Amino acid sequence: MKNQQAHVILILFLLFINITLQLTAQNIYKDSSVPIEARIKDLISQMTLAEKIGQMQQNHLSKKNDEVFNEIKLGKIGSFLNAGDINDKFELQKIAVEESRLGIPLIYGRDVIHGFKTIFPIPLGQAATWNPEIVKLGSAAAASEAAEVGIHWTFAPMVDISRDPRWGRIAESCGEDPYLAAKMGSAMVEGFQGNDLSSESSIAACTKHFVGYGAAESGKDYNTTIIPERYMRDIYLPPFKSCIDVGAATLMSAFNDINGVPASGNEFTLKRVLRDEWKFDGFVVSDWASMTEMINHGFCADETEVAYKSVKAGVNMEMVSQSYANNLEKLIKEGKVSEDLINEMVEGILRVKFRLGLFENPYKQLKEKSRTLSAEHLTAARESAEQSFVLLQNTDDFLPLSKLSKTIAVIGPLADDAQAQLGCWSPDGDPENSITPLKAIKQLLGEKTKVIFAAGLDNCRSTNTEKFAEAVTASEAADAVIMILGEDDLLSGESHSRAFIDLPGAQEELIKTIAETGKPIVLVIMAGRPLTFGNIVKDVKSILYAWHPGTMGGPAIANILFGNVSPSGKLPVTFPRTVGQVPIYYSHKNTGRPPSENQLGIKMGTPENPVGFASYYLDVDYTPAYPFGFGLSYTTFEYHDLKLSSNEILMGGKIEVSATIKNTGKYDAEEVVQLYVRDLFGNVTRPVKELKGFKKIHLKAGEEKVVTFSLSTGDLAFWNIDMKYAAESGDFTLWVGGDSQKGLKADFTIK
Ligand code: GLC
Repeated sequence: MKNQQAHVILILFLLFINITLQLTAQNIYKDSSVPIEARIKDLISQMTLAEKIGQMQQNHLSKKNDEVFNEIKLGKIGSFLNAGDINDKFELQKIAVEESRLGIPLIYGRDVIHGFKTIFPIPLGQAATWNPEIVKLGSAAAASEAAEVGIHWTFAPMVDISRDPRWGRIAESCGEDPYLAAKMGSAMVEGFQGNDLSSESSIAACTKHFVGYGAAESGKDYNTTIIPERYMRDIYLPPFKSCIDVGAATLMSAFNDINGVPASGNEFTLKRVLRDEWKFDGFVVSDWASMTEMINHGFCADETEVAYKSVKAGVNMEMVSQSYANNLEKLIKEGKVSEDLINEMVEGILRVKFRLGLFENPYKQLKEKSRTLSAEHLTAARESAEQSFVLLQNTDDFLPLSKLSKTIAVIGPLADDAQAQLGCWSPDGDPENSITPLKAIKQLLGEKTKVIFAAGLDNCRSTNTEKFAEAVTASEAADAVIMILGEDDLLSGESHSRAFIDLPGAQEELIKTIAETGKPIVLVIMAGRPLTFGNIVKDVKSILYAWHPGTMGGPAIANILFGNVSPSGKLPVTFPRTVGQVPIYYSHKNTGRPPSENQLGIKMGTPENPVGFASYYLDVDYTPAYPFGFGLSYTTFEYHDLKLSSNEILMGGKIEVSATIKNTGKYDAEEVVQLYVRDLFGNVTRPVKELKGFKKIHLKAGEEKVVTFSLSTGDLAFWNIDMKYAAESGDFTLWVGGDSQKGLKADFTIK
């Protein structure tokens, strides 16, 4: 009897232990006091293969129906993009958290690229501020507004280096230079993610498009990219590394074929560089169907091969297409893909979901007082726009205009186009919140100035000149004419490349027609890219480049034109004289025959005489219309006293470089002090100049400041002939100035 009793007790005890273990086992991943890595391991250990594959699926929520609900319940979907309003998100999340077997929360993504409801300047414009702080502020504002409606993750920042203004997505980029793009992109990541990803006002960033998407041949979107490894590592990869170094939670792969291997199946970029070298532990989401498009590329024969090559390369999550859902299980059963690899992919996704705090707070939403379209956000958007504008020309210091002008004519279809000024990728921006330039100019001038508006054209693409007459009449009645022209928001952005980058429609004709009135013209250009407008620069006094300035573009333009704020923007991208010069960028190689002067035209019958040949054109000045880093102010700055702590740097050491900048005009203003360096000789050819530092400073009229940069040999490293990242000893030149073409110059040597 006693034995029986003992036996029963033992069984009951073992049963109790087992249940306890089961219970505690199930609770580990739900226990926020446990380190995230342990929670991940525990959760993975409990997931079925189908549930793991489910986490690797992101769908676009086209409609809520039982099929979608059931897929979530079965753990077949890990994420949605564009998942409707907050109620839709909570409804789906409730199913995931309460009805699925393990209750893994969904992560919601959205393109919050340059603002959510409060739209900031397009990223190319934000890069023109050369002010990481204001860019960070803009992304933080966007994050808090998106978090209010339950968005957890934005598909930004885009840091594709682009040197081709034909490419429509240059609008979303931070321009042509790796150093500037790295500073701007990492500021955006810090703004989106804040100090704590689990905070209710933080959203996960997604640095994109990995990698080289901006090198699309002929500027056509989605086109082939051919990028030798040295250029990949020196130019296209650094901005991504900088974003990861500040904690970017995710990356997005890309549509383009990189040297014959599409970005979404590219083991060199996604595995060797991103994981093996950079130890990235977040996750990579594909671009929209970019995985299955590898069939179009001719890189995969079918979706089974798509799934195989994508997972082997290291794409954790598939956006919208279903190759993982339909093929991974089979590939594992056939032993072609290991479940360890699936575990690795799922770990990256779970890690971000844990870091976002979604397990503790699946209905994550910024609940405190709404900041959407708050005065604070609108002010930040206006200041960002003001600092993004680049003054390209100001003949006779014509700007700023007097607020006491009796009559001002405002001409142009973009003077009052609430949608156009929001720019591309502003899906959640409402044009009714925009304050247009026309409205803002009227508000600023008040009753004492008569403002006459005439669009002149039905829209920015129109060639119908019927409305020119009323524009001429308005101009003739005015003391000065403000023309607001350029591109509407649809002429840049995804798949919106242009082979010609002139002012669209009959805009040049309109400018010349208004110029015939003899009235002084201030031209404001809104655009998503550098445009070519050399034909009209003599017809106008001043040219202000406003990109697409966002919700508060109007007040920002009015403040600049009438002198409340001095323009301080600098070009983040080179402006060509003609599209025939593209690609054109400041950090070019010297070539064996660098041009020293133009050789425009060649007389008929000129004898073949190969003397003086150099790298120029017969039909256009080989220099850009406006160089990288260029931008005028209402004041003038004088640079003097360039000092180096030493003209020699020992390998591994650094020097201090300082210069004094004086505001020699009568306006308080900002100046972007730029440091460029040239490595005169290398075991591979080196660019004629590379940006290695910049500081935006405020100087009152007459004030002067000393600006100091630290320059280390590490800052001068490059991928050398042996494909090693290292600086080389030798001779260097540096410049400190207000743009990439001029500055105080000094030589130094690395010993
Ligand atoms: C688009 C874009 C990508 C965007 C994604 C989701 O095709 O290439 O930048 O984030 O799809 O909208």
